[in-house]
Amino acid sequence: MTIVVAIDGPAAAGKGTLARRVAKDLNLAYLDTGLLYRATGFAVIQAGGDLDDANDALKAAQNLTPTDLENEKLRHDEAAQAASKVAVVQPVRDELLEFQRRFASQPPAGKAGAVLDGRDIGTVVCPDAPVKLFVTASCEVRAQRRLKELQDRGLEAIYAQVLQDMKDRDARDSQRAAAPLKAADDAVILDTSDLGIEEVIEQAKSIISEKA
Ligand code: CDP
Ligand code: CDP
Repeated sequence: MTIVVAIDGPAAAGKGTLARRVAKDLNLAYLDTGLLYRATGFAVIQAGGDLDDANDALKAAQNLTPTDLENEKLRHDEAAQAASKVAVVQPVRDELLEFQRRFASQPPAGKAGAVLDGRDIGTVVCPDAPVKLFVTASCEVRAQRRLKELQDRGLEAIYAQVLQDMKDRDARDSQRAAAPLKAADDAVILDTSDLGIEEVIEQAKSIISEKA
């Protein structure tokens, strides 16, 4: 028996930080599913395609290779915005679904299970996961965190712009028809607005030990 931990939530809520630590401490394989959408959006831009064209987006998703996921530029906000545009296309989501499900059900040998983070892990990708966490925080706190990350990487950024980008992406992710961002009915909600990283990790681990 392997464990599956599903972690969802809006941008910069702390999903990745939590997922990586849980994976390390509990010997689980980790998949950042946002990277699949970022790589798809970025590939459309690189091919000179149209991010609002469903066919361009689907072609990019079908042609993704493992090395596409290693591009440093996927961390940039341009890739995040592009991701949230291609992510509204249902055939793109269908194309990426099988890989995510296989990762969850067949983690690499030696791993006790898998942790996946994204927007629809608990609702669509792994609806039967025994542990579902919905990690969230206020928009302002999340924008502040993203601003700090950008500044730490030596990039220029303005709070008002980061906040606006965050709101745009939240709206696109929550209001789309295809697998919108929402907590699964059986997810535990973790509001990290006033919590430090270690506190979030402790709370998550205690929930996992109860449920897994
Ligand atoms: O994966 P997601 O976009 O949800 O967020 P993340 O990349 O894990 O976290 C975004 C930023 O917030 C990182 O710089 C974390 O160090 C920071 N963070 C925080 O300050 N407090 C938390 N409780 C969680 C994350
Ligand atoms: O790290 P951050 O939370 O900013 O973004 P991400 O997890 O890398 O996701 C980038 C975008 O991909 C999101 O804004 C969603 O539009 C999309 N996405 C999705 O639709 N479904 C997922 N399972 C993961 C990401």
